[in-house]
Amino acid sequence: MILKPQKREQIIPMPVVLISTMDKNGIPNIAPWSNITPILRPFDEIVLASWIKRDTLANIREMHEFIVNIPSSKMIEEVMVCSRNYPPDVDEFIEAGLTPRTSTKLKTPGIDGCLAWAECLLTEEIMRENYSLIIGKVVYLEGNDDFFNEAGEMDFERAHPLSIMLGEKEMQFTRPVVSGRKAAYSEMFIK
Ligand SMILES: Cc1cc2nc3c(=O)[nH]c(=O)nc-3n(C[C@H](O)[C@H](O)[C@H](O)COP(=O)(O)O)c2cc1C
Repeated sequence: MILKPQKREQIIPMPVVLISTMDKNGIPNIAPWSNITPILRPFDEIVLASWIKRDTLANIREMHEFIVNIPSSKMIEEVMVCSRNYPPDVDEFIEAGLTPRTSTKLKTPGIDGCLAWAECLLTEEIMRENYSLIIGKVVYLEGNDDFFNEAGEMDFERAHPLSIMLGEKEMQFTRPVVSGRKAAYSEMFIK
């Protein structure tokens, strides 16, 4: 099947995270995000793409910080509540019934009960006509002890991180599962 080039988001499974931010008056904000990725391994930067009209973007510009919270697939309803277009003075923690979690390095609260939390400082914004690319440096990273082993690896099967496939008329929430095949990084260097 041939698809239009701008449908490229329909062929790539994407993560779902919740970004928490805060404005200068201390009002917190939460929004789901899928256009987000770590920049290569083993660095400490993350890039996300944001439409211009986002309270999340305004808050990141204002406070220079944000938190990437990793929800489980049990939090789909809360994710969708946070995706609604509330005015900037509405606290999405209250709307979605989520509990704030004190952060370690930042003023912005994280979201209690998530699988992991990455506290990020804004390092660069790359502006385009309709959107911006935000590059953040992870300054503190924590995994929920209920779902991480001592090596810092997520117990994927129990944690149920959330992902998504975008379709023509709707989004389909998905959940990655283990395939049974593991690969050492050194396999990439075998000639
Ligand atoms: C699963 C999901 C992923 C999303 N990913 C993005 C994204 O990557 N970039 C973006 O600008 N908006 C994205 N959105 C839309 C925002 O979450 C939504 O517009 C939200 O209301 C923005 O809130 P804010 O104005 O408080 O930042 C996504 C929505 C959902 C449901």
